[in-house]
Amino acid sequence: MIENSVGYFQLPFAVAPGITINGKLHPLIPLVIEETSVVAGLCKSILFTNSHGTISASQSGDGFIGQIHFPNIKNVENFELSILACKDYLLTKANQGPCENMVQRGGGVKDITVRLITRNDGKTMGVIHVLVDTKDAMGANTINQTCEYLKPMVEAASGEQALLCILSNYNTEKITKVEITIEGIDETLAKRIEEASVIAQFDHYRAVTHNKGIMNGMDAICLATGNDWRALEAGMHGFAARNGQYRGLSNWVSEGKQLKGILEGPINVGIVGGVTNIHPLAALALRCLKVESSTELAYVIGAIGIIQNFAALRALVTDGIAKGHMRLHLKNLLKQTDATEPEQEKALKLLEKIFDTKHYVSANDAHNVLKELRS
Ligand code: MEV
Repeated sequence: MIENSVGYFQLPFAVAPGITINGKLHPLIPLVIEETSVVAGLCKSILFTNSHGTISASQSGDGFIGQIHFPNIKNVENFELSILACKDYLLTKANQGPCENMVQRGGGVKDITVRLITRNDGKTMGVIHVLVDTKDAMGANTINQTCEYLKPMVEAASGEQALLCILSNYNTEKITKVEITIEGIDETLAKRIEEASVIAQFDHYRAVTHNKGIMNGMDAICLATGNDWRALEAGMHGFAARNGQYRGLSNWVSEGKQLKGILEGPINVGIVGGVTNIHPLAALALRCLKVESSTELAYVIGAIGIIQNFAALRALVTDGIAKGHMRLHLKNLLKQTDATEPEQEKALKLLEKIFDTKHYVSANDAHNVLKELRS
């Protein structure tokens, strides 16, 4: 799959219980992640939300944006007109050329639009958006090829010079929205979770961490299913800053014993093409999920994002995050020493006692406990 490969770098592959979205059960959630406690927190919250909540999801639009950039337009009045005048020709050429296969699958280039942006130095940039419906593929290669194929045509039509073509990972043409409604939750807890989500709307230092917790779950499915999690991350963070301030990606609102969470963003993933088809574990992960379209996969990823967020906020506003993380963290601390397995078991108990009294444990404690055991 990549160049200069000298081996494999393995990560844990976990599963979490299934979830139901829009009435459809996705029986098992595959997760690839190295971080302690993410899966445990998620599983606990899935069990809770499965028995107390319902999840619905929707997606607006079906396009994916490819861009052709003109950094310095000479004839600003003519640029947009010249491109729009040959739009039908460009659509036909692209759909008969690089997008032919996508058209056969019901997709293809749907529209071409033009944006003009004024730079700080007063010059005008032109950006052509090529909107491609990639159906169940993420379609990055096809979008890039299509933009490169159209580039000489739009240069000739406008008399302007393009600098670069590439898809945009900030795809506002297809936004996934997931809503979870939890009933019968403790009122104080619900209010505290709402307050925690308000903090992430107004303090961007907190918003980044809030969103990191959401991405813990979303990235883990992306990775398991062979999707590009860097693309997902980039798009979601762009969306978090869409109004000029970086904010939390989720909003929680409570009313008595009811708590509602909403998460929105450009979750652009595929279930065909790319690594999804050639990596056997990605294929297995997709089978676990029983998703029939890229839209359904986006729904699951969004739903796991908001449930993971619920897990983190619930821990943060009650016991604090350290307690839940501690047991596995202590095990990992001991793995960093040369303790044998039987020693690790004994040392773990001692470290737990230290945590209970001091409320924190460090790598030094792990070494000291081991020394004590050995002496
Ligand atoms: C840790 O990986 C994720 C959290 O920091 C998320 C959050 O603070 O909301 C616990």
